[in-house]
Amino acid sequence: MAPRSARSAPRERWTEFDAVRGRAVATASGTVLEIGAGTGGNFEDFARGITWIGLEPHAPSRATLQQKARAQGHLRDVLAARSERIPLEARSVDSVVGTFVMCSVDDVAATLAECRRVLAPGGRLVLVDHLAAAPGTGTRRLQNLITPLSRRIDKGCRYNREITDEITAAGFSEVTADWHRVAVFPGVAIPCAVHTARA
Ligand SMILES: C[S@@+](CC[C@H](N)C(=O)[O-])C[C@H]1O[C@@H](n2cnc3c(N)ncnc32)[C@H](O)[C@@H]1O
Repeated sequence: MAPRSARSAPRERWTEFDAVRGRAVATASGTVLEIGAGTGGNFEDFARGITWIGLEPHAPSRATLQQKARAQGHLRDVLAARSERIPLEARSVDSVVGTFVMCSVDDVAATLAECRRVLAPGGRLVLVDHLAAAPGTGTRRLQNLITPLSRRIDKGCRYNREITDEITAAGFSEVTADWHRVAVFPGVAIPCAVHTARA
């Protein structure tokens, strides 16, 4: 059974959590929208036969993404947009995937509402993220301290985001969270999780 929180998860290395990310991405099927696709770091892990649509607001990343997606052969589209406003029809995709994106979006609730809107009924949401440590812990204080800087220099990245309750609040069902505790510096491990849910 997945740990109920990062606190009860064993400590692991980034390389180990990266394997978790890859396995989560591989579960996406059908027409897949990848939000905040960056420069295409997930391409190797998608299952064969999917139809991939990427969404990426950062123009330089998007240019690389477009090139890589063409080379992969499963490109349908790369959208120049933000996940708070997805330029796709309602119920038009089977899966929405995002890896390390929920830390960067401006509005978590709007992003989740849009993901749910574009998913077909029963469609699957797969989110892989680093997340906030429990309030009052030393790790959370550190996350709160570095977040104003990371927001400015790392495409809006916040280290103190929580999203589990927000996924449920957005109306998704079958919400699951697979928690991990990943070492980032000697003595510091941050919560990471794979969330899945159905529209
Ligand atoms: C940490 S990077 C992760 C990139 C990629 N998903 C990966 O795992 O390598 C965060 C990405 O989210 C994108 N991003 C930032 N704000 C966004 C928004 N509002 N909607 C969608 N993507 C956004 C950034 O441009 C960046 O490419």
